[in-house]
Amino acid sequence: DWTMAGYRDEAIRQIREQVGDSHVICGLSGGVDSSVTAILLHEAIGDQLTCVFVDHGLLRMNEAEEVVTMFRDHYNIKLIHADESELFLGELEGVTDPEVKRKTIGRLFIDVFQKYANQIEDAEFLAQGTLYPDVIESVSFSGGPSVTIKSHHNVGGLPEKMGLKLVEPLRELFKDEVRALGHELGLPASFIGRHPFPGPGLAIRCPGEITREKLEILRKADAVYIDQIRKHGLYDEIWQAFVAILPVRTVGVMGDGRTYDYACALRAVTSVDGMTADYYPFSHEFLGETATRIINEVKGINRVTYDITSKPPGTIEWE
Ligand code: XMP
Repeated sequence: DWTMAGYRDEAIRQIREQVGDSHVICGLSGGVDSSVTAILLHEAIGDQLTCVFVDHGLLRMNEAEEVVTMFRDHYNIKLIHADESELFLGELEGVTDPEVKRKTIGRLFIDVFQKYANQIEDAEFLAQGTLYPDVIESVSFSGGPSVTIKSHHNVGGLPEKMGLKLVEPLRELFKDEVRALGHELGLPASFIGRHPFPGPGLAIRCPGEITREKLEILRKADAVYIDQIRKHGLYDEIWQAFVAILPVRTVGVMGDGRTYDYACALRAVTSVDGMTADYYPFSHEFLGETATRIINEVKGINRVTYDITSKPPGTIEWE
């Protein structure tokens, strides 16, 4: 009989066999795949694992603390919190082009990861949360589509460059199986069910120039929006939901004063795999209540819009 517990035990045995006494580095993003990879490795090899969490300053509210608390304090995993927000935000200053943003973040990410990984002595392996669909896709799409819509984070080639061997304990699993394995490993359900979050983070939800001020406003609005979605019991029905802060300020009136603040857009979609998506049909009541809350609770926003574009023709993220 095939069970997830059996799979876990077999995966642990294979990791031990592959790694021996060597040290393993694992990049942790806070997403489900890298989290499950890290916890599985930790069960298998304990202190022979060091995780590197690159904090680019483009994370959501409390996200860095939550990741560090969970992995370092709760699981006792050796974790380097690479707080490089100054570097990333500095390099992104004045950058407005979406592809330049993505490429800048991707390049810095690799530099930073390498810098910290080099400090880990005797590392011989790099662990990655590659899933089965990634394995298939990289084979069947090689040399495939000639139009790049968006440059994704790509750490491919990094292991060879760093002289590291790969450990990919999830490469036989689909996403739902990774979630089941996470459950088996005791990852909290709230963590397992989290919506996907893109590598470039809030940068691609902040069209136009990225400033600390805008990021701060965006984080607060996003937190209120997600809180609303959870309170209405809609979180698990939605593939992804987030706020984008728009590069435009508009005039409003609050109390007996004039306001001149940013507008934001709410986004929520259903999807099976992120390749196509439908906008989520919130009730007008929900949208009205959420807009009121954001405007009342978030200083710096005085107008809220709802994005009703499906994919295609829109993409899920704004950039
Ligand atoms: P789009 O915006 O292309 O997004 O419709 C499809 C899905 O991919 C996520 N996404 C990314 N994930 N690195 C990632 O790890 C990226 O650079 C990236 N860009 C988009 C997006 O959040 C959605 O789930």
